[in-house]
Parts: sequence; C-alpha cells; structure tokens
Amino acid sequence: MTNMQSEKNRIDELTEKLHFYNHQYYQNSVSEISDYAFDVLMKELQELETKNPHLKHQNSPTERVGGTITKNFKSVVHQYPMLSLANTYSKVELEDWQIKINKLLPNQSEINNLNEYFCEQKFDGVAISLIYENGNLKQAITRGDGQKGDDITANAKTIKSIPLVIKDKNIPNYFEVRGEVYFPYSNFEKLNKEQEIAGEPLYANPRNTASGTLKLQDSAEVARRGLDCFMYYLLGENLPFKTHSESMEKLLEWGFQVSKTYQKCTGISQVWDYINLWDTKRFELPLATDGVVIKLDNLILQSELGLTAKSPRWAIAYKYKAASISTILEKVTYQVGRTGAITPVANMKPVLLAGTTVKRATLHNEDEILRLDLHEGDTVIIEKGGEIIPKITSVDVSKRSFNLKKIQFISHCPECGNLLHRKAEEAAWYCNNDKGCPPQIKGRIAHFIHRKAMNIDGMGEETVEQFYNAGLIQNYADLYEIKYLQIVSLDRFAAKSAQNIIDGLKASTTVPFEKVLFALGVKFVGSTVADKLAKNFKNIENLKNATLEDLVATPEIGEKIAESVQSWFGEKENLEIIEKLKSYGLQFQIQEKDVIVESQALAGKSFLISGTFLQFSRDELQNKIMANGGKLLSGVSAKLNYLVAGENMGPSKLEKANKLGVKIISENEFLQLIENKL
Ligand code: IVH
Repeated sequence: MTNMQSEKNRIDELTEKLHFYNHQYYQNSVSEISDYAFDVLMKELQELETKNPHLKHQNSPTERVGGTITKNFKSVVHQYPMLSLANTYSKVELEDWQIKINKLLPNQSEINNLNEYFCEQKFDGVAISLIYENGNLKQAITRGDGQKGDDITANAKTIKSIPLVIKDKNIPNYFEVRGEVYFPYSNFEKLNKEQEIAGEPLYANPRNTASGTLKLQDSAEVARRGLDCFMYYLLGENLPFKTHSESMEKLLEWGFQVSKTYQKCTGISQVWDYINLWDTKRFELPLATDGVVIKLDNLILQSELGLTAKSPRWAIAYKYKAASISTILEKVTYQVGRTGAITPVANMKPVLLAGTTVKRATLHNEDEILRLDLHEGDTVIIEKGGEIIPKITSVDVSKRSFNLKKIQFISHCPECGNLLHRKAEEAAWYCNNDKGCPPQIKGRIAHFIHRKAMNIDGMGEETVEQFYNAGLIQNYADLYEIKYLQIVSLDRFAAKSAQNIIDGLKASTTVPFEKVLFALGVKFVGSTVADKLAKNFKNIENLKNATLEDLVATPEIGEKIAESVQSWFGEKENLEIIEKLKSYGLQFQIQEKDVIVESQALAGKSFLISGTFLQFSRDELQNKIMANGGKLLSGVSAKLNYLVAGENMGPSKLEKANKLGVKIISENEFLQLIENKL
C-alpha cells in the first residue's frame, strides 16, 4: 500500500470513528472513550487533513471545531418558505381555531372535539433550516425574510447537536429539518462574564446574541461560544410518515435533538392542560420560551388545510403574557466598576418571577432613578421579558405612603470614600481615585489578564483577588515581578498551577501591540479602538506624543476617546508602568509583519472614505490606503485631499467636500490612483 493510500484509509477510519463517538455522546449520552483519547484522535485527523486536504470528507468531524472564515454570507432562496405562526392569547381563541379547522375538514366534524394535537414549546431562539442530501448536511440557512435567507453552513456545523452525517437504511434523498438555534443560559452568562471583565458592553439577551453569533465571520468563535438547537419540523417530498409525531420520532432516531417537552394531546381540553403545566415549568428549560405551538398531528389533514400566505392553517401559537410582578424596593446599593463608574443596584424583597427568585435589578445610572422617581420602600413592578436580568418598569405610586424617602444618589465612593464626579455629557458618576480604590485596581488587573487582552494562562479573577489580598500586586506591572515561590506559598496553589502562571506571564511578552494597548485599560479604548490606534500610530511613543488633533483625525476616534487617551498619558504613574512593562519585554510597537506595505503611491495624501463599496469592505479600503502610504482622516476638512465616495454616502459630507474643493473620487478612480494612472 502506498503512503497516500494508508493515509486515506486512516482518514476514513478516523472520520467514521469520531462521527460514531460524537453521535453516541451528543445524541445518546454515552461516552465511549475519554475526552483525552477523543482529542488525540481529533488532532490526528486534523493533521492528516491539513496534509491531504483533498482526502478530507465533506462533513468531517473536524468541522465542529470551526476555523472557516465567511466574509459574505450567500443569500439562498428557501425551497419551502419559512412561515410565521398565527397567535392566540386565550382559551376561547384556541377553541375558535379548533372550530374553524373542523369546518374546513368536513370528514373530521364527526369526531369533532377529539382531534389529535401535537403540543410543543415555542422556543424563543433563531429559526434555522438544515438541508440534507443522501444523509449529509448540505446547507444551513437562516430564516431571513421567509423567502430567502443566508447560508451559514460553516457556523451551523459547529453546533454539536446538529448531525453532520446520518446513517440509516432508508434515508430520503432530500429533506429539510427546521428548528430553533439558541444560546443556553449558562453559556450566555459565561460570555457576558467575559465581556464584563474585558470592559466591553454586555449582550442584552440570549436570543439576539444567538442570532448575531450565527452571523459571525469566524466559525471557530461560533464553536467556542457554544450554541445549541432544538428541531421541530421535518419537510420533504413523499416522506413516508403519517403524523407529525412519527416524523419527530424519526428525527430523534437520526440523531437530531428534539426537546423532550412535547406531548400528544386529544382535544383542546388536554391542550389547555399542557399550556397550564408549562406556564411555570418552562422556566426550568435552558432557554426562553414564550408560548406553546399546537400542531394538528395528522399530516394528511395538515395538507388538506394547507397554508395561507403567512402561516400554516394546521398550527397555532398560544402566547404567554410577559411575566411581571410587584415587590418592595428595600434599598439601593452601588457598585464600582474598573473605570470607576458607579452603577446603582436595586435591592428588593425577594419574589418568585418566571421561575427564579429575583432580589436585585440594575438601575443603570442616576437618570434612571430620577425617571422612575424611586423612593425607599416603594412598591415597584418588575418584568422579565426575553432578557434574563429583570427590570423595574414602573412604581405603583398608589401604594406609596407619605413618609417615604426619595432615593438620593450617593456623593462619595462606597468603596474608598472619595468624592464622586459626573461630567455633563455622561450618564455615569465616577470615582476618580483610580490608584487607591480597590475594585478599580483589581478590575484593571483582571482586565489586563483577560483572554481578549494579554490572555494570561492559568489566571482568573479569583487569582487577581488572591494576589491583591496577599499584597503581591498593586498594578498590572507588578504581575511580572511575582516569583514562583511567592505563588506556591499561597493557599490552593500546587506546583503545576503556579508554574502555569509564571509561564503564562512569560508567554504574554509576545502578545501583539494592539492587544497590549487594549490591556492597558484606557477608558473608552475597547478592542476595536485599540486596533485602530495601534494601526494608525504604530507604536506607543507616537500615541503618547499625539496631539488631540492627531487623535481625532484617526478614523472612528472621536473627541471623547481622544481626550481619554490624552489624559491617560498625562499621568506620571501610567508612564512609569509603561516603562516597567517595556523592561519586561512586552510589545509596544506594531510588528513589522502586520504592516503590509504595497507601495508609496499615496504618500503625502490624505483620504476619507464614505459609504459602501463594491470591491472592498470599509476596513479593506482603509488598509489599502495605509498600505500604499496614504493617511486616513476622520472628517472633511481643508486638509483633506481625497474623499473616496461609495454608495449611500452622507449628503452633508459631500456638500462640505464640494465647498472646500476636496477631490471626490470613486472606488475605481482610487484604484487608478494607486497604479499612478490618475
Ligand atoms: S413550527 C410556521 N414549532 O416560531 C410553521 N415553530 O412564529 C413551522 N418556533 O418561525 C414552525 N418554536 O422560528 C414551530 N415548536 C415550534 C417552534 C416554532 C419556535 C418559531 C419558528 C417560527 C416562529 C413562528
């Protein structure tokens, strides 16, 4: 056997084995081998596939890990439109629906009230359609406008409960399976925790985040976030099933995940029992549901009833009302964030709402307290919609007794006692004692070590807490002074975990400049802004010496950010920390390989881009300008040489450019400029 032949055999064998273990684990909850042994096989397959890309199976188990980058999602027309469901809100409306369908099904009227219904949860996620050909997952498409959606196959393949390959004797050549992709609460909380530590904005709710995640360009990130899905609909031509329940059983057998919450019901009164049962039980599920879907079980009757333009006649959704309840506001406490921002928190008498005990809700800022006109002891109405975190929506003023005290926002920091400040244009109050206020100090260090920043292996928030309490660190530069022996002498540290941290810190000296810049934790400098600043200024010296004018001339950098950057570099202690970090070997300039230089054709010329372009994304166009020696400006001014105009550009920019005599060029003219043809 040739070497290639044996590698082919091994790829085939590993593919088969890993599919089998996956299926056993995710569909049958059986672990056939240890995680470690599984990873070893997976790695072997990945290596063999990299070496022999032409031998890789179309739906290889390695697709689960992601790694595909999709720049533009292809738009695909649905073979069967993805419809909506008609809604009902009461038992009477439900009975009316039964009467209506029975009238349309004359043969059915004798058995009248005893139709067989299939009841399911109405999952509040993102609809998806999976197309299988000859047992292979071919395409995954979003709902889109119902007629056409986006091809998100690479991202869907990372969802472990979606079978990539189905093995069965009589698999239909072509079928579609529809269901709902969701962000399990636990994974959503994990993601938001990471955002919080990174100082990035939190995601509002699992549904929108699931939808956003499915449209990420990098499927490895989709895999990491951990989406899941429940399937509830099988479609195709001449499928051999008589009832919806039969088709759901088949889906289970083929390895799809179908929620165990379904139930077959005879007549509307059993349906009503199901609705009542799940009114509260639904809160035990790993995702939000907002009602129950009731489907006529018999597929022949379904096709007799048919569809309207918007929804099938054979199904209906019963919607639960948004859960709300009243309770007493006991007191408002205040949290101090990494940047010193103060967040007021409502502490309430615990109440059971939508399956969980609620006792706290964020009040965001002082304006929210004023808007609600909150008094201590007020009866407040709290609501839980698609979001996990409850909100105070209003105050029941009729229940307010005369002697209640108005909530007065605090004037001093609850952690360090410093006087608070608020800038006119910002909603938040700040504690400015950034060097002496413990939550700010710890928060900055936790931000520094975060995965999206320096990504220090072996460290987490608790480690920061422990090091800080032990007096080992006062700022993030101190991390690099810590010795192995100091760590192992702390509680809960074994030799291995201590060494891990030392190694992690050492490894962080290769983290690129833009991440280091983000890690410094300058107010308003999130990861995207850090990227832009690093690219534009190339090293920390240039950034430090940049004038306010230079800063705001950078694309996407406004005055607020520019001022914050300047004031950060204006502090002596920050400059000292940078010097220390430099001495430990951290990267303070962009690596040469990151700067792509194509030509100097645009040297000395400044550009502003506006609108959308055919051949480039905005980022690509900006990179192209810089790669050819051009400079980017962020607004139209007399200094601007060229305005590159795309589609839908703002009329005010155009007008101003015309007035100032700035040259306005198209995407093609820009390309000619690079080639020195213009
Ligand atoms: S059946 C339209 N079953 O609700 C007929 N849909 O409002 C096929 N949905 O777009 C859909 N849970 O995204 C069905 N158990 C369930 C569902 C469900 C949630 C969603 C689905 C659909 C929307 C219609």
